[in-house]
Order: sequence, then C-alpha cells, then structure tokens
Amino acid sequence: MRQGLFNLKASQYAASIIGTGSYVPDTVISNSYLEEIVDTSDKWIVSRTGIKERRKVLDEIATSDIATKAAIQALNDANLDPIELDMIIVATVTPDMAFPSTACLVQKSIGAINATAFDIEAACSGFIYCLSIAEQFIKSGSANNILVIGAEVLSKITDYKDRNTCILFGDGAGAAIVSKSKGYQILSTYLGSDGNGCDLLYLPAGGSRNPASIETINKSMHYIKMEGSEVFKFAVRIMETATEKALELCNLNKSDIDYLIPHQANIRIIENAMKRLDLTEDKVFVNVDKYGNMSAASIAVALDETNKMKRLSNGDNVVLVAFGGGLTWASSVIRWL
Ligand code: COA
Repeated sequence: MRQGLFNLKASQYAASIIGTGSYVPDTVISNSYLEEIVDTSDKWIVSRTGIKERRKVLDEIATSDIATKAAIQALNDANLDPIELDMIIVATVTPDMAFPSTACLVQKSIGAINATAFDIEAACSGFIYCLSIAEQFIKSGSANNILVIGAEVLSKITDYKDRNTCILFGDGAGAAIVSKSKGYQILSTYLGSDGNGCDLLYLPAGGSRNPASIETINKSMHYIKMEGSEVFKFAVRIMETATEKALELCNLNKSDIDYLIPHQANIRIIENAMKRLDLTEDKVFVNVDKYGNMSAASIAVALDETNKMKRLSNGDNVVLVAFGGGLTWASSVIRWL
C-alpha cells in the first residue's frame, strides 16, 4: 500500500547513502577522432583540459535509458527493492523530452510504483542539489528511501563543429540511494546560484524563449554555448568557497578533508582547487581524462567509482563539490562508514 510522502511521522533522522551505481556507454570519442573533425590537437586538449577521451551513446539511446542502468546498480548495491523507494529525483540538462520528467520514465522502467518522481535542473551542480533535497526529506521523516540520479546525454546537445566545446563533454549516468538506514552519512549540503551569469553557459533554443524552428536549427541554437575562460575563472573561485561552506556547516575545516570528489570539468580547475585546499594528489578523485565533463552525471559517477575503489576508511570525511551553468554551485560533506 502506498505510504504517501507526507504521512510519515515528522522527526529528525540522519540521511545516509546506502548504495551507488553508474553507467557509461561503450563508444569512445578519442582526441584523435576530434582532430579529424575540428581544428584541434590531442596535445592542446590534454594540456588545456586533461581530457583524453569521453563516451557517447548510440543514436537511439536517451538519458532515461542510461539513468535506469545506473539506478538498477544502485538499488542492487543497497539491496533495496524498487517498491521501497518513496522518491526519485533526476538531475539532468538533457531530459528525454520536456515532459514527462526523466524521473517518471525511470520510475516506469524500474517499477518503483510507490515513488514520487521529478527532475531538477542545476546543470553540473545538479546531482548535489538532488542529494540536498533528498537529505531534507529523509531528515524530516517524510521519506525513507530516495533514489537520486545525475544523468546526461550531452553528445546530443554538443556542436561537433565547435572546437571550444566539443572537446569537453561526454555522456554518462550515476545514481545513489539516500536513506534513513545506516550508510555513508551526509553531514552537510550547501547550494548556491547566481543568475547574473546565465549567459556564460547555456543552450539557447528548444525552450519557450526560442522554440524549435528551422531558423533555430540553421543557427545551431540547439547546442551548448559557452564563454570558456569566464567559466574557468568562476570555477576556480567557487570550488574553494563552496568546499569551505559545506565544511563550516558541519564544524569542520580544510584540514579535516580526507578525500575530495570535485566536478570533473578540467584538470587545471581540479589542480587549482587542490592547491587552494592544501590537498595532495592522492586525496583527490580524477576521472576527467576518461569521461570528460558529464555535467550532472560527473559527481554521481565519481561517487560510485570512489565507492567501488574501496580505498576510503571508516570515519573519512569526503567532500563533493561542483559548479555549473546557471550559474550554480554545490557541495556536500559525507562521512564514510
Ligand atoms: N583546440 C585548439 N585551440 C582551441 C580549442 C581547441 N579545441 N578551443 C579553443 N581554442 C583556441 C581558442 O580559439 C583561442 O584561440 P585565439 O587565442 O586564437 O582566440 C585559444 O585556444 C585560447 O583559448 P582560451 O579560451 O583562452 O583557452 P583556455 O586556456 O581558457 O581553455 C577551455 C579553454 C574551454 C578549455 C577552458 O577555458 C575551460 O575549461 N573553461 C571552463 C569550461 C567548463 O568547465 N565548462 C563547463 C562548466 S560546468
């Protein structure tokens, strides 16, 4: 019998991550392939971004398909039946369609008949936004088990004629189960936005401002537009500030970080954050070389890969930190158990 999201007794619970999963498609887009289609070089891409390759779905695959694969893994890892889910939240800038939400499509594919499902959009910060929303519902006692997903098929909104952007982005999906049960405890989440930076990273057409038309297609307005160096400057600044904010919220400081999982956009942004936060290389997760920037899926996949590495110890403080279009930023401190 459906429990109803708001019928549970309100009380304070800890919110924990009890399972993770991820999926990246098999097809690899290498730097040498990009050298063939735009005026770029492997040397330029690696030195400016750290990216060696990224993944791309087949034409018939959409975001909900890869989100579902990551979700099933996370459910298995948590040993949870889909009918035990109260909520599904998907973060994506590449939904299958404007509506229904990608979360509703995932709900259908996994048979989560008791869940409420909806999407959120906070670009590359989206997965941590999901975690934060899930944390609030669990802590208030309004939900027991929430599936959070970051999933993107960025290859379908990337202009492979634009060397400024096509080298950066890839496809993938990651998922986690946030629960009242014992697991990696979410100690804090911190979210921020600045709409004044809305024109630094955006997709001009396909919404109500510029609905799809022959003209929008001819002008390539259905592809990502980006002011790379401005985004870079913002990212470098916000990675440190957002990390410090999340730590402050749980009475920790820089020296308490055992492991940092930063948004995987550019190795130079990650190295800069590492330096500002006094962290050595072994304390920072990196997979940008393999997958490029997967937007909302970036942190979600990184969290799952960190979980599978089984390198962290009980009691370690793990910081997630991301930035993205909007502008948005987000961070979280998780106590590994
Ligand atoms: N290959 C070769 N040259 C390229 C190129 C490519 N793929 N892309 C851009 N260039 C050129 C530019 O046209 C420019 O040439 P010009 O000086 O003749 O005009 C030159 O390289 C330098 O461009 P610049 O933008 O200053 O380079 P950069 O060092 O800032 O690196 C980015 C560019 C995009 C890699 C970098 O700014 C970046 O990563 N920004 C953040 C982007 C991001 O993270 N976005 C997602 C946020 S979630």
